[in-house]
Amino acid sequence: MSTAEKTFSKGLEGVIAAQTEMSFINGTEGILEYVGIAIGDLASKSSFEETVFLLWNKRLPSRSELESFTQSLRANYGLCDEMITQIKSLPTDAEPMHVIRTMISMLSLYDTNPNENSVEAAREKALNILAVTPMIVAAFDRHRRGLEVVAPDASLGFAANFLYMLNGEKPTDAMIRAFDICMITHADHGLNNSTFAARVVISTLSDVYSAITAAVGSLRGPLHGGANEGVMKMLNLIPSVDDAEDHVMNMIKNKERIMGFGHRVYKSKDPRASELMTLAKQLADDTGNMDLYLKSNAIENIMEREYASKGIYPNVDFYSATTYHCIGLKLDLFTPMFVLARIAGWSGHVIEQLGDNRLFRPTTDYVGPHAAPYVSIDDR
Ligand code: CMC
Repeated sequence: MSTAEKTFSKGLEGVIAAQTEMSFINGTEGILEYVGIAIGDLASKSSFEETVFLLWNKRLPSRSELESFTQSLRANYGLCDEMITQIKSLPTDAEPMHVIRTMISMLSLYDTNPNENSVEAAREKALNILAVTPMIVAAFDRHRRGLEVVAPDASLGFAANFLYMLNGEKPTDAMIRAFDICMITHADHGLNNSTFAARVVISTLSDVYSAITAAVGSLRGPLHGGANEGVMKMLNLIPSVDDAEDHVMNMIKNKERIMGFGHRVYKSKDPRASELMTLAKQLADDTGNMDLYLKSNAIENIMEREYASKGIYPNVDFYSATTYHCIGLKLDLFTPMFVLARIAGWSGHVIEQLGDNRLFRPTTDYVGPHAAPYVSIDDR
């Protein structure tokens, strides 16, 4: 390609850098589909396990295939003793996202063949990372609270097992279902920043652990998955629904970004935000957190008035904050919940990349000087 044909797109906006069969997004109409199925249908009818099978196999499973996939996932729930010892040695004031990034990287040390990159091997490694990361999060949280680590229960599904390991007691059916919906809605989303990071890393034929570790590092940024914690911090600063107007208008006046709003692709309401809004309302009602939901709703209305003309609407992170709070999660576990779900998407993209790989190597537009003199150090 000649220099004249190359174009520069800041932030790679509008650049198609990969093909995928997993998720389709129409940002104008607010459509998200996994393998052609609307996110709303999956959120209301599917389970996280079935959604992962769909993303990894590009079709829904039969009953026996789902049973077999679920059993394989459950058989991988446990962390090895060495990993648990490592988690128990971590500083209790460490941020969970730093812990997850470190521990997923560390998983490679306990894999006898971490560099094997056949599609089959990548699927096995992905299944294991997906299955054990909930225990990494739960074990670290219990360690920092001075509590015993709870072993996984292989009779429980992904959502129920995580909440059980975190709280040491079996969750209610309503909490399991709510958490499962969060996992489904966060499972995959095109070539978002962390997914791109994973694809870039695996395109060097590095290894699955490095790719997922890079993705975790990307996700924690406040412009990406870290936004859900930013939303909760904002909600906590607003004493009541009546204060929402002044608070948000002050933020706008000070040119602050309102977390949980805006998206590179969606120029209408993110369909995941619509799903989570319904869920948040129900959970807020059930758990006595209606003030939180009403504050969120008030902010959405103010933002609609002020920013809809710019195509800025709520994204997935906006109502997930209220949802996670109502599920009983601590603030710094919000972004880790995004990780638990998005491992499905990252892994699927890593597998797709390995199946038809070409090294990612974009170029830069050099804007510095040419033919500059080398001035000796004494003369500078
Ligand atoms: N609040 C106020 N202004 C905003 C916001 C916001 N949340 N989002 C975008 N804008 C404005 C921005 O200031 C800029 O205005 P101007 O043209 O006057 O300078 C304009 O919109 C375009 O912003 P941009 O940063 O160039 O647009 P982008 O496509 O790079 O932004 C974004 C996407 C998600 C980084 C941005 O909307 C944002 O910072 N949102 C808040 C953080 C957030 O909620 N992130 C979660 C994204 S969805 C889930 C995920 O990926 O994890």
